[in-house]
Amino acid sequence: MFRVKRVILITGTPCVGKTSVAKMLSVKLKAFYINLTELALNEGLILEKDKKRGSLIVDENLMRKRIVKMIEKCEEDVIVDGHYAASVIPKNFVMYTFVLRRDPIELRNFMKKCGFSGQKLWENLAAEILDVCLVEALNMYGKGKVCELDVTGKSVEEVVENILLILNGSKKCCVGIVDWLGKLEKEGLLEEFLKI
Ligand SMILES: Nc1ncnc2c1ncn2[C@@H]1O[C@H](COP(=O)(O)OP(=O)(O)O)[C@@H](O)[C@H]1O
Ligand SMILES: [Mg+2]
Repeated sequence: MFRVKRVILITGTPCVGKTSVAKMLSVKLKAFYINLTELALNEGLILEKDKKRGSLIVDENLMRKRIVKMIEKCEEDVIVDGHYAASVIPKNFVMYTFVLRRDPIELRNFMKKCGFSGQKLWENLAAEILDVCLVEALNMYGKGKVCELDVTGKSVEEVVENILLILNGSKKCCVGIVDWLGKLEKEGLLEEFLKI
């Protein structure tokens, strides 16, 4: 039976759990998995290295062209994993963008485990608190295609299960489900967490 392939994006702040979720989801859906960071490194899609931040500046135009070719060629569903996923995949390709959200208190520990510290940790934590990935995804794809998932305290399996429920229509895809700014303020933690 002919079935149109689906392109599903998994985005979110660094260390939130994207790769763990996207890989397991790819196995469950027998989908083709694309990791944007690996792709950029393996294929030299880098404009420059930001030494101060210890991060890479990706050539988004080249990346977009490369991704479009890969998706067009692919016959299976495609899962794209990366925190800048929203800006490099054309809108007409994308079925859903899942934005993983994690409570900053828990995310700070995940970031430390990932080896983040100092400025880089605070900048990325601020991006989570200020909904940067969510806003980017909404700007690019609009409300109907963007699903926010609060993954705080959830296992990778639970998150994947939730995504599958949304994909098969048994659960609603929605946004506006977390308010880290309000939560931290209520708990008197805003100054400690928002250090930029
Ligand atoms: N649901 C989870 N529960 C516990 N640990 C997790 C979970 N998801 C990811 N991790 C761990 O957190 C770290 C960051 O996860 P990763 O999937 O690499 O995040 P990202 O791809 O968003 O940077 C890894 O050490 C991973 O094993
Ligand atoms: Mg990753």
